[in-house]
Amino acid sequence: MRLPDMTRPTADAVESRLTYTDGASRTVFATEVEVPFPEGRLIVSRTDLDGIITHANDAFVELSGWVRDELIGKPHHILRHPDMPKVAFKDLWNTVSEGKKWHGYVKNLRKDGSYYWVYATAVPNIRNGQIAGYTSVRRKPSRTRIDELIPVYRQWLEQEKEKIAS
Ligand SMILES: Cc1cc2nc3c(=O)[nH]c(=O)nc-3n(C[C@H](O)[C@H](O)[C@H](O)COP(=O)(O)O)c2cc1C
Repeated sequence: MRLPDMTRPTADAVESRLTYTDGASRTVFATEVEVPFPEGRLIVSRTDLDGIITHANDAFVELSGWVRDELIGKPHHILRHPDMPKVAFKDLWNTVSEGKKWHGYVKNLRKDGSYYWVYATAVPNIRNGQIAGYTSVRRKPSRTRIDELIPVYRQWLEQEKEKIAS
């Protein structure tokens, strides 16, 4: 599903062209503005088997910057930040599609180009013994772990870019 390009939010926003696993692509703009994870809240979304958002709780909607109707029915990659390496999501999908639980740190892009970090737990929803969809619950992330992961994600992203260029 093709998501519309973003419009440049501020003059200093960095422009990137993202290509998604389903072949769609769009232009996004990322700023250096971080929005802190809201204290005492859990951010929850559910998807179908293809990663299309089927449910978003109020905290998810508020932090994303979108309104609920703009999120429901859209691919979850609407939140993908250009600093996130693809390999992190490959690991998520490989794990949950095998029926297992995945944990990880994710930097998400808000509608206005700012970002927020989460510590996510994604699980498959099993109905009648079959995977019927997926749920992700996000908690407040550890700043120490974020600081450790920033250079790791940057290195993975560089490796992915080199692979595409070669
Ligand atoms: C339950 C669930 C929650 C997800 N949450 C996020 C998320 O918060 N941010 C994100 O960028 N991708 C999330 N993803 C992964 C996206 O589906 C997608 O794989 C990712 O954004 C990379 O885009 P692409 O695989 O379309 O290239 C989630 C997937 C599932 C199944």
